[in-house]
Amino acid sequence: MSLPQARVRVAAGVAALLLAACSILPSSGVKLDAPYVSTPYEVVDEMLRMARVGPGDVLYDLGCGDGRIVVGAAQRYGTRGVGIDIDPRRVAEATAAARSAGVADRVRFLQQDLFATDFSEATVVTLYLFPELNARLKPKLFALKPGTRIVSHDFGIDDWPPERVERVTVNGASHQLLLWTVPPRR
Ligand SMILES: C[S@@+](CC[C@H](N)C(=O)[O-])C[C@H]1O[C@@H](n2cnc3c(N)ncnc32)[C@H](O)[C@@H]1O
Repeated sequence: MSLPQARVRVAAGVAALLLAACSILPSSGVKLDAPYVSTPYEVVDEMLRMARVGPGDVLYDLGCGDGRIVVGAAQRYGTRGVGIDIDPRRVAEATAAARSAGVADRVRFLQQDLFATDFSEATVVTLYLFPELNARLKPKLFALKPGTRIVSHDFGIDDWPPERVERVTVNGASHQLLLWTVPPRR
């Protein structure tokens, strides 16, 4: 690699780090535990298929971003849904998206810290968070109603082995999807 090429790579790396830092403390001033990166729509479709969502489900997306998972499930499968995000801009975007998709009567978006949220009514939970956040959520996820499905984009949940792992490639990038079902109580 030539010196100019190396400089370009270093500059790109610094830009990526700055972007991540901005995402963690966005202009709304709220401290995020994970930056905003949306799941590609093709991956959303696969997550909903893996979770076998249906009209009887209540889907929670913890850290919902622009609401695409909750809105997509309501549009395609008639699912009721709740999106939780600590960033008010994301909640505003998601609420607007639900209105324009015509599903505002089936979904709600709440500006809340996902760690302070009661999501015990969920029958499906979706996650696109860092591994350490998934690990912190594990006790609450494991205590959900038996049969509740959990689908995570890219990351595992501590030492809980997933029952299925799939991969979806979008624009050359590989996405890992992991599925768990809450087991019956002993
Ligand atoms: C990687 S994005 C995922 C967005 C969406 N779930 C998706 O898959 O398209 C993570 C989201 O979590 C939100 N977030 C970060 N920390 C949070 C917290 N403590 N409570 C609630 N939301 C949080 C961010 O604002 C961001 O929208």
